[in-house]
Amino acid sequence: MKRIILGRLSYAAEVGRGRINAVCGHNSSVETLRPTSSRLEYARNIFSSMSKEQLQTPHAPLQIRCYASNLQQENCSDGRLPDLQQENCNSGRLPEYLHFHQETSVETREAVSSSFVVLRDFVTEEEEETLLKEVEPHLRRLHYEHDHWDDAIHGFRETERSKWGKASSKILARLQEFAFPNQDEKLALVHILDLAKTGVIKPHVDSIRFCGNTICGLCLLSDAVMRLVNVEDKTQIADIMLWRRSLYLMKDASRYNYTHEVLGEKESYFGSLPVPRERRISIMCRNYPRQEDVS
Ligand code: OGA
Ligand code: MN
Repeated sequence: MKRIILGRLSYAAEVGRGRINAVCGHNSSVETLRPTSSRLEYARNIFSSMSKEQLQTPHAPLQIRCYASNLQQENCSDGRLPDLQQENCNSGRLPEYLHFHQETSVETREAVSSSFVVLRDFVTEEEEETLLKEVEPHLRRLHYEHDHWDDAIHGFRETERSKWGKASSKILARLQEFAFPNQDEKLALVHILDLAKTGVIKPHVDSIRFCGNTICGLCLLSDAVMRLVNVEDKTQIADIMLWRRSLYLMKDASRYNYTHEVLGEKESYFGSLPVPRERRISIMCRNYPRQEDVS
């Protein structure tokens, strides 16, 4: 299968440009929190909860706020989803963050729905502030790169970190606990990508040699639309609403069989809804590649 390769950090590029090498030691400075809530279990299960019939119906709202931020978790202190959310979850209605283009087949709907999830309000405003305070000084030292349009990304600066302050570590631990239940598979380095208001991430598939089946990203500062396009059939298109402070998790089929991109200012629509793009910072965690992809 043809793969489009992003020419940047090594986990995103098979042939990097000698920049940051993301293949690193197993030790992470991020402290690990034990699972605290059945809501995370639920979120993991959402991947397998949709039937073909449900996927054929137009998307219906599904709020997945409850198991996101600390604040929200306190509101449901018994560790259960509120009734409405529980019902939506059980009925497996298509989530509000997915918009499939008209020609998209049931198979695509099923593949994407079962391998991509967005958790709205995964962090609170305060937590967003905490993370921004920590990454901004490092980003500020870098210039935005406005590469040639052939390159996969335009108008960005990026860095990686393995050491974080206490407050940020707690947030990242929550994120990694959700994305990588088997914690020792996660890469220690966390990727921070700062996309200018005018920046775009063009369609690409992250390198299979440098990162595994799961990519998760925390979206800060701006809403954005991510588009997935099947690598073999470009009529198969899913748009994904990435709200500010949401966490997305892209796995398996979505990660390997679809390119992903972040739409630029002019194209930034979710269905008919304009999604204004501001400067956006994403904090991404990945896992180790599969053995067969490395050798
Ligand atoms: C990448 C990428 C998406 C994002 O850096 O490879 O796809 O959410 N980023 O910033
Ligand atoms: Mn990518």
